Amino acid sequence: MRIGIIGTGRIGSTLARILVAADHQVVLANARGPRSLAALLAELGPAASAAYPAEAAARSEVLVLMVPFDGVQGLLPQDAVRDTVLVDATNAFDGPGNARNLGGRGSSELVAEWYPGTRIVKSLNTMHFETLAVAGTAPGPRLAHFTAGDDGKAKEIVAGIITDLGFAPVDTGPLHSGGILQQPGGPLFNRPLTEAQALAWTSH
Ligand SMILES: NC(=O)c1ccc[n+]([C@@H]2O[C@H](COP(=O)([O-])OP(=O)(O)OC[C@H]3O[C@@H](n4cnc5c(N)ncnc54)[C@H](OP(=O)(O)O)[C@@H]3O)[C@@H](O)[C@H]2O)c1
Repeated sequence: MRIGIIGTGRIGSTLARILVAADHQVVLANARGPRSLAALLAELGPAASAAYPAEAAARSEVLVLMVPFDGVQGLLPQDAVRDTVLVDATNAFDGPGNARNLGGRGSSELVAEWYPGTRIVKSLNTMHFETLAVAGTAPGPRLAHFTAGDDGKAKEIVAGIITDLGFAPVDTGPLHSGGILQQPGGPLFNRPLTEAQALAWTSH
């Protein structure tokens, strides 16, 4: 699959590395523009290319947001991501470690409002990048990555990518309730769980 990643910092570059290792193609975009990505492209080889964000969206079958939450609104033209499977891996914080008070809403619900018509799935937001880098190929029980969303087919597509990376996809339900479980302050955030442990939480 050709997967776009917007944001190539700690988590975005890590995802790019493990996607390429799993035989996917990646289209990378950041704030500084494609030329700033030369070193990462050289490391990743021919399966990786760089673009500006809207171009990355146009060239990708699935697009992953890995930028600071406050950079999401207005980042892309709405038309660039209409009907796109959009993985929101961002987290809303107010200062280090403090979950932002969103008045009972999920942060990905806000992203869905900013990008109407997008097939949004909240995923890949709970695991620290250092764990993401190695855990999919480590021996032992698979760790879980979660999917929350209101488009079942989009969640299946994201679950397939999670499986390719060596993790166990666990569906947390709709974007509202599942997203709140996954976001900072929720019980699934930043807690590496095996598939069995994750299923125990989500069946509560
Ligand atoms: N770090 C983790 O372990 C982790 C795990 C799961 C989820 N997340 C979430 O993922 C997001 C990124 O975290 P991070 O730790 O990877 O941050 P980071 O290392 O600071 O990287 C942020 C990336 O976003 C890019 N960016 C910022 N504004 C942009 C814009 N307007 N257009 C395009 N690209 C833009 C930056 O571009 P430049 O490189 O050009 O500056 C940079 O590549 C956050 O929402 C975070 O909560 C992080």
